[in-house]
Amino acid sequence: MKVSIGSDHAGFNYKELIREYLETKEIEVFDEGTYSINPVDYPDYASKVAYKVVDKAVDFGIVICGTGLGVSIAANKVNGIRAAVVSTAFTAESAKNHNHANVIAFGSRVNSIEEVKEYLDIYMNTKESEEKRHINRVNKIHKLEG
Ligand code: RB5
Repeated sequence: MKVSIGSDHAGFNYKELIREYLETKEIEVFDEGTYSINPVDYPDYASKVAYKVVDKAVDFGIVICGTGLGVSIAANKVNGIRAAVVSTAFTAESAKNHNHANVIAFGSRVNSIEEVKEYLDIYMNTKESEEKRHINRVNKIHKLEG
């Protein structure tokens, strides 16, 4: 499995810890930055992750900022991206099963790193639902892209 990960300064420490966590599972991680806690603009890093996902260079993307909100809003501007903010076990499962999210966003000021690892595992262990109602809804999202 291949994963692209990126963050702003607020998410930097979590990005480092998540990358190490995924590497212990022998998952190949593409680190799109940022590479320090110096202040940066989250759209720059969320978009790098998003483009890796739409280019099919990776299986999914992870974006992190203070809230998960800015990076998810930015990633969702890239055609083909379905980025979902994940902050509970339930949203982790639903993001994959119902929404077929191909990018998940975490907030370093919202959840502990242990929670984030737990939700990441749930997302990775959940399958995209093949039920018609969910596929129809995801197709309708795709049509909104024009
Ligand atoms: C940075 O202070 C913070 O605004 C950013 O990480 C993020 O939470 C924005 O959505």
